[in-house]
Amino acid sequence: MKTVLCDARADAVLDRLDQEARTQSSEMRRYYDAKKQQAKRTTDPDSPDDMAFVRDKFVALDPEKCDLCYMLCRSIKARRVVEFGTSFGVSTIYLAAAVRDTVRENSGNGIVIGTEIEPTKATVANANLAEAGLGTFVEIRVGDARQTLKDVGGPVDFLLLDSWIPLVRPVMDVVAPQLRPGAIVVCDNVQMYEHEYADYTAFVRNPKNGFRSVLLSHEGGLEISVKLD
Ligand SMILES: C[S@@+](CC[C@H](N)C(=O)[O-])C[C@H]1O[C@@H](n2cnc3c(N)ncnc32)[C@H](O)[C@@H]1O
Repeated sequence: MKTVLCDARADAVLDRLDQEARTQSSEMRRYYDAKKQQAKRTTDPDSPDDMAFVRDKFVALDPEKCDLCYMLCRSIKARRVVEFGTSFGVSTIYLAAAVRDTVRENSGNGIVIGTEIEPTKATVANANLAEAGLGTFVEIRVGDARQTLKDVGGPVDFLLLDSWIPLVRPVMDVVAPQLRPGAIVVCDNVQMYEHEYADYTAFVRNPKNGFRSVLLSHEGGLEISVKLD
């Protein structure tokens, strides 16, 4: 897989994870096609059925979006990165590579704090990050993000929100006070689930809440918000 990381070791792990994710794609297509026929998927993307179905699935962030997260982290020299929704660690590899590269070029420290509610996924994610040579730049907190992200230990430079939609706004409420001025927040699929994300987008798109925000219309949409001073 061609990524912006320029890191053969990380790319090899991403290649393997991409192959593994592809083995799930026909099962996922069948599941969601059936949902569509029942007209359920569009109105309730986070039903208990869906959550049980994706418990062992990658549902990884699109590679181009991962590349963009890497570039954004590099451009602001992000050292404290937070991710809601680690799964098997695909996007985490990009975030950790960005933090590592910032530390390499500027010295000092850096960390990605990921969080994952499924312990088995967190274990595999840690193994994948170690295989990519990035383990020392990541701490994956196992549990509910509303608890695990209450204190991330310092000002947050970059936040990736890639998890269950009903929890995105509550998690934003937990992390927002920890964002430093100029921090970037990226949230996935806001266009595909425009209605479900309404409370989140209303928050980041209202300048009174201290953000400026833009929607990129690509593969379900990506909301990119900047915390102002
Ligand atoms: C879309 S996936 C994340 C994909 C990941 N960012 C990647 O690119 O590989 C969302 C993940 O959030 C996890 N999750 C769901 N509810 C959570 C919660 N309350 N706290 C932490 N993680 C949660 C799910 O188990 C799932 O693995």
